[in-house]
This record gives sequence, C-alpha cells and structure tokens, in this order.
Amino acid sequence: MAADNVASSGAGTPAVDEKRRRLLTTGAGVVGAAGALALAIPFVSSMSPSARARAAGAPVEVDISKLEPGQRVVVEWRGKPVWVVRRTPELLEGLEAVSGELRDVESDKSDQPDYAKNTYRSIKPEVLVMSGVCTHLGCSPTFRPDVAPIDLGADWKGGFFCPCHGSKFDIAGRVYKGAPAPTNLTVPPYSFVSDTVILVGEDGEQA
Ligand code: FES
Repeated sequence: MAADNVASSGAGTPAVDEKRRRLLTTGAGVVGAAGALALAIPFVSSMSPSARARAAGAPVEVDISKLEPGQRVVVEWRGKPVWVVRRTPELLEGLEAVSGELRDVESDKSDQPDYAKNTYRSIKPEVLVMSGVCTHLGCSPTFRPDVAPIDLGADWKGGFFCPCHGSKFDIAGRVYKGAPAPTNLTVPPYSFVSDTVILVGEDGEQA
C-alpha cells in the first residue's frame, strides 16, 4: 500500500513507476484489441445469410412479371448495378437503324456470354440484362428510352447515356463511335428460371 503511495507520488522510485506504467499501457492495448473484436463480431453476425451470399456474388433472382414494356428495373449483383429492361418493338427496331453509327456493332471486342453475342445482346430480344457500369471510367449511365429527345438529338432511338464524359450507348448497350467508352456495356451471365423470373449471375441451359 505504501509502495503504491510512493510510486504515485513519483518520489524516489522511478523503477516501480516505470513498471506500473508499462503494465497499464499493455493492459490498455489488450482491452483495446478485445473491444475492437467485440465490435467486429456483432457487425459480421448482423449480416443475414442471404446478404453475405449476395456480397460474395451469389446469383440474384429478379421477378420481371410486373415490368412493363419500356421500363427498367435495377438489381445489385456483386456490389454493382445490373439493369433488366423490357424493350418495346419500337426500341428493337431502332437497333438496326443505328448500326452504322456504332463502334463495335457485332460486339467482337466487348464482353458478353456467347448466348448474348447477337444484335439484341440478349437471350430474348425483348428482355435486356446488362451491367449498369460504363466501360469508360465506371459511372452508371442513365436510362434514356425516349426517342428523339431534345438533349440527345433527333436521331436518338433510345439507349443509355453516361453523363460523366458523354458516352452514348444504344438500347443493346452498344457504344456509339466517338464516345470515350472503349467497348459496349457488359452483359453478365444470366438465365431464365421461368418466363417471368431471371437469375442474374448464373448461366442456364440454353435452348
Ligand atoms: S465514365 Fe461514362 S463516359 Fe466516362
């Protein structure tokens, strides 16, 4: 008890004082590490199994039964947006009309599964599944299905516009010539579970 008193006064017992200081410092470090661990564990366990699976890249089911022609739904897969668009006959007709203005019209230098390497860049012409990430520097382009809007010009047949640096893509995600984006937008792997449910992130058996 007396030693504690002497040490706390700092008079004549520097060795004891130093020993006590080291003990306190080490103790604080252990408590700090334990505290960090205690904080980390609730965070990890607070993620549901499905959230953890999604973060790891598990396929995502998308119900498109309520998706009207001309509409888009956005889902998240591997932390990135994926678009599902139901294209109208008018939008599909526009694909041929713009082909002369595109940089990679056959998608030879672009990234898509084999079953989406066609004019529509999709399994079914009316349903587009596309990564919502610009192939220039990674912005997410805007969905512009409107035909001939004032800001995009009379020749615009519907598509995607990236406002970051002005890249234009048609409604199949094919990039226009002169855009800073080097390639068409990417098509992720996907499959149809039924007529109205898509599985984004997993190839299926193709007919
Ligand atoms: S990120 Fe899209 S044009 Fe640059």
